Amino acid sequence: MSRLKVYYFSPTGGTQHVAQHLGERLGALLNAKAEYHSYTLPHEREEMPAFGADDIVLWATPVYAGRIPNKTLDYVRQALHTQTHNKSLALVTFGNRAYDNALAELVGLMEDGGMQPVGAAAMVTRHAFSDTLGAGRPDPGDLAALDSLAEQVAAKLASPNPHPSAITVPGEAHPEKYYTPLKTNNAPAGFLKAKPSCDSTRCTRCGRCVNVCPMGSIAVAGGRPSFGGICIKCQACRRSCPTGAIAFADEEYLSHVAMIERTFAEPKRTEFYV
Ligand SMILES: Cc1cc2nc3c(=O)[nH]c(=O)nc-3n(C[C@H](O)[C@H](O)[C@H](O)COP(=O)(O)O)c2cc1C
Ligand code: SF4
Ligand code: SF4
Repeated sequence: MSRLKVYYFSPTGGTQHVAQHLGERLGALLNAKAEYHSYTLPHEREEMPAFGADDIVLWATPVYAGRIPNKTLDYVRQALHTQTHNKSLALVTFGNRAYDNALAELVGLMEDGGMQPVGAAAMVTRHAFSDTLGAGRPDPGDLAALDSLAEQVAAKLASPNPHPSAITVPGEAHPEKYYTPLKTNNAPAGFLKAKPSCDSTRCTRCGRCVNVCPMGSIAVAGGRPSFGGICIKCQACRRSCPTGAIAFADEEYLSHVAMIERTFAEPKRTEFYV
């Protein structure tokens, strides 16, 4: 029995949700045992994955600024560099703006690393920045698209041809730039250095935010969280806080959120490639 190895980076849970849906469906169709691995937290990235030659690899990542999140890129590149030429699936989630080059970059890393990508999908999920963009996604139509992908990939893998046809996805496999976020006035929004803040009157000192930061950048000082180190704006801390004590007050960031909510309200489609 072959194994389906599912890896995901998912600070706010959307990517994990769709990776598990696809993993379950594909595992059942391939009669393969699905194994799930998060690489969201720092300690989860301390070891590189090890793949057996028969393992099928499903790799899932959110889109950040039109690409694979910059701070995870080295880990993903190394993890997908294998001697075993595994068949693989690429899955990206995006918050209804655009996935730009992210899917092509992920498929490209698989090919550069010696894998054989057999399927790929770009799924609309809730935008981590917003409660309106991508709200309610994935919906039943999105999940049905994933089910079709699983069925078509299973049929492709059942073919006696040991070298399944390559897939073609939109975008650049080796992009140089990231999407430049804009403000409501269409000027670039400079919020690279923005960090969350904590309202001490609402914080119950539960410590949950400390344990969800993918960069390990939250510490407890004086009984409540302090935000040092790198912040990738993933929103894990803000969305995990049970009392709503965490917020991003940076004006450039807030203007960007207002811009995307206004400009990208029209629902985008989930897309898949076999
Ligand atoms: C820093 C950052 C940048 C993002 N950039 C994009 C983008 O370029 N296009 C887009 O449609 N969604 C973008 N998103 C939305 C995420 O792709 C989406 O919310 C994703 O589902 C988050 O995955 P998670 O729930 O697993 O954390 C961005 C989110 C964050 C946090
Ligand atoms: S501090 Fe930044 S990187 Fe850490 S969880 Fe919060 S938003 Fe994400
Ligand atoms: S999750 Fe919220 S309430 Fe808990 S320690 Fe962090 S800021 Fe305070």
